[in-house]
Amino acid sequence: MTELSTVTEAKAKTVPTLPDATTVLEVKHWNDRLFSFKVERPQSLRFRSGEFVMIGLMGDVNPKTGKAKPLLRAYSIASPNWEEHLEFYSIKVPDGPLTSRLQHIKPGDQIILRPKPVGTLVVDALLPGKRLWFFATGTGIAPFASLMREPEVYEKYDEVILMHTCREVSELEYGRQLVEHIKSDEILSEIEDGKLRYYPTTTREEFHHMGRVTDNLKSGKVFEDLGIAPINPETDRGMVCGNLAFNKDIMAILDGFGLREGANSEPKEYVVEKAFVD
Ligand SMILES: Cc1cc2nc3c(=O)[nH]c(=O)nc-3n(C[C@H](O)[C@H](O)[C@H](O)COP(=O)(O)OP(=O)(O)OC[C@H]3O[C@@H](n4cnc5c(N)ncnc54)[C@H](O)[C@@H]3O)c2cc1C
Ligand SMILES: NC(=O)c1ccc[n+]([C@@H]2O[C@H](COP(=O)([O-])OP(=O)(O)OC[C@H]3O[C@@H](n4cnc5c(N)ncnc54)[C@H](OP(=O)(O)O)[C@@H]3O)[C@@H](O)[C@H]2O)c1
Repeated sequence: MTELSTVTEAKAKTVPTLPDATTVLEVKHWNDRLFSFKVERPQSLRFRSGEFVMIGLMGDVNPKTGKAKPLLRAYSIASPNWEEHLEFYSIKVPDGPLTSRLQHIKPGDQIILRPKPVGTLVVDALLPGKRLWFFATGTGIAPFASLMREPEVYEKYDEVILMHTCREVSELEYGRQLVEHIKSDEILSEIEDGKLRYYPTTTREEFHHMGRVTDNLKSGKVFEDLGIAPINPETDRGMVCGNLAFNKDIMAILDGFGLREGANSEPKEYVVEKAFVD
């Protein structure tokens, strides 16, 4: 064995390389349950705003095989497709296999990112319309954080309404700051052109707008508060991202307004994706 190969092997042992590794650039903790982070975007990664990818860390070494497998989970890309870096918005599940560890990442660390973006929450999966609704609960806002910064959204719609419901006020902060940034940033505000409307609500902490999105749609409160006509299949399009029960309830409401669920292969009036698997 040459001296050179010994050095190379020693290096390989001390600096393990992850498959499809990318480097963490920035981490922000929003409260004890939520954090967001930015990573380097692999040069070859192309995606449509609203899509998700698999990300993760190496799992523990299996004592039987002596090998470790990647521990991967689906994550919506929260940044738009034109952004140089990739951004993610994440829950911290206390005993969650991935997030109990992922919540401790720091700038300079590496994570795994499988470069195969997919998903139904994309502009192309909807028929043309005038008004686009984003219905989100909890971390379900992540795909809309991407789409809210997507120029095509504002080229295709006259009005874009983000409805975000969380249990507590602090869980709304990521979305609130993003909307504020879009409205104040010189370039983004020109793209948004006054079309983005924001309707946040809480369900378990006092706030100026309260109640489940579903209840506020059924009662008509949303339309009254925003001063707009009710949802109409001729003009309105929807994108839904929340827990399974929420998705089902919103779908029943949208069906009731005469909208139909579409897909990439068959665009219709609304599309749905799970924010997590129960
Ligand atoms: C298409 C898709 C996109 C997703 N995008 C995101 C995203 O952008 N951000 C994100 O944080 N998660 C997202 N998830 C969920 C994510 O894949 C993981 O479940 C999450 O990171 C927790 O991983 P874990 O291994 O720690 O726990 P898991 O074993 O995966 O989950 C344990 C339990 O925690 C709860 N849980 C998991 N994720 C969430 C969540 N996001 N909000 C509330 N409760 C949750 C559920 O009850 C689940 O059964 C997405 C899931 C799907 C299917
Ligand atoms: N968020 C927290 O503070 C908290 C704290 C500890 C543990 N957890 C656990 O973490 C998991 C996820 O919690 P989460 O708060 O992120 O997500 P979540 O349970 O999906 O709730 C997010 C928001 O969606 C609303 N919602 C839930 N189901 C709905 C439906 N069918 N129709 C309309 N609105 C609906 C909730 O309202 P309601 O409040 O009316 O349900 C809440 O405002 C849960 O298993 C929970 O037990 C959460």
